Amino acid sequence: MKKVLIAYVSRTGNTEKMAEYIAEGVRMGGHDATLMKVSDIKNAKELSGFDGFIFGCPTYHKDMTTGMKQFLFLAEKANLTGKIGGAFGSHTHSGESAPMIFETMQYVFKMDTLDLGALNLTEAKIATAEGAKACQQYGKALSEKFK
Ligand SMILES: Cc1cc2nc3c(=O)[nH]c(=O)nc-3n(C[C@H](O)[C@H](O)[C@H](O)COP(=O)(O)O)c2cc1C
Repeated sequence: MKKVLIAYVSRTGNTEKMAEYIAEGVRMGGHDATLMKVSDIKNAKELSGFDGFIFGCPTYHKDMTTGMKQFLFLAEKANLTGKIGGAFGSHTHSGESAPMIFETMQYVFKMDTLDLGALNLTEAKIATAEGAKACQQYGKALSEKFK
């Protein structure tokens, strides 16, 4: 069984809901999922021991949050090269955050990122059964990359 860390930011709970559904998908795929808020991760050593990483952040002011930016500098020190990775986020209209995180994972950290790209859902979609399923499928797709 592989270990997946889902590290996220959420101000009003929408991205957190996505994180929980994605964790369900990872578990459906037969692997272990750990959920953590990035504000609780204090050093790069806390990222060791995981085989896959899914980072999530909502879009505020057409950007990811300062907390997520600081976390990505911390993650840079963890040497995630070649590790399986995905990214997600909630938004209402523009949704810049998730694709920016995904690109950092792909091009800067040189991770083995999901072919699906980032999972970028509107908050209205997250509240539906379809939104929940999209998150579960994303977690499951990441799990399937371990085969
Ligand atoms: C002050 C403010 C600015 C926002 N800016 C954007 C934005 O630029 N683009 C966008 O798509 N959504 C924007 N949103 C909507 C949030 O991304 C959306 O509510 C999201 O679901 C919040 O996720 P969270 O509950 O995980 O914090 C903004 C929301 C607020 C309150």
